[in-house]
Amino acid sequence: MGKIISLVNQKGGVGKTTTAINLATYLAAAGKFVLLVDLDPQGNASSGLGIDVMNLEKSLYHSLVMGLHPKEVIFQLDNERHHIMPSNQQLAGAAVELTGVEQREYRLYNLLREIRGDYDFIIIDSPPSLGLLTVYGLVASDEVIIPVQAEYFALEGLGQLLQTIELVRENLQPNLKIGGAVITMFDRRNRLAHGVVKEVRAHFPGHVFDSIIPRTVRLAEAPSFGKSIMNFDALNKGARAYKAFANEVIARNDLPAKS
Ligand SMILES: Nc1ncnc2c1ncn2[C@@H]1O[C@H](COP(=O)(O)OP(=O)(O)OP(=O)(O)O)[C@@H](O)[C@H]1O
Ligand SMILES: [Mg+2]
Repeated sequence: MGKIISLVNQKGGVGKTTTAINLATYLAAAGKFVLLVDLDPQGNASSGLGIDVMNLEKSLYHSLVMGLHPKEVIFQLDNERHHIMPSNQQLAGAAVELTGVEQREYRLYNLLREIRGDYDFIIIDSPPSLGLLTVYGLVASDEVIIPVQAEYFALEGLGQLLQTIELVRENLQPNLKIGGAVITMFDRRNRLAHGVVKEVRAHFPGHVFDSIIPRTVRLAEAPSFGKSIMNFDALNKGARAYKAFANEVIARNDLPAKS
């Protein structure tokens, strides 16, 4: 059964989508079967991988709201192990359209349950809010990973995020775990950034990934070519960091061989 991981931080522009795209890509490159779920009406994870979001005939919306089988809204990316469930602006109405629908918090959970057997990992990219879409994503997930930008105010809002996770756990999904935080956009020449790393480690003792994602212009350029960093500039330091991060995620999830 595939492990379902949500990337969540209600702060905008902290690297959720960049992390979702590149984590999924390197998991698939490592031989895992991976589905990237774009749960953000901005559709950045979809367009960043070359999908024409303006002209999408089928998207996550059609499965979540219209009830299409999830397989009908899944597209193949680099290879047969690497898939995406794309989204666009249409998803923005989903929460409202589902008003009154019974058990709507479990719609995404149920939909992903139908296909999770086909995957080793399902990675969910969330919008920058703690609204209903993000909550649907959390309910569907086994684990949350929080991308934290190595900048001043990085920890701002984390209390509210952890509280939301706790509420979801108490009321909707008792098995939801915090997988940890991953530090993004780190600039080693910036002394403040080193302080932020220390602070994040103090905040999540033992739960911060060793891989730190550097700030590099190549990571920002890749999506405009519709490519992951692996397909855009595989030797770039950002590429190496995301590959190492994906390997950490694999190592944390691969159970030791049964004796
Ligand atoms: N490590 C990095 N180095 C340089 N630029 C980066 C890096 N990570 C992300 N960016 C750029 O920063 C911007 C925000 O990143 P991204 O879209 O991944 O954040 P986000 O948290 O998904 O944003 P939103 O909250 O709007 O969904 C983008 O333009 C992206 O290309
Ligand atoms: Mg995003």
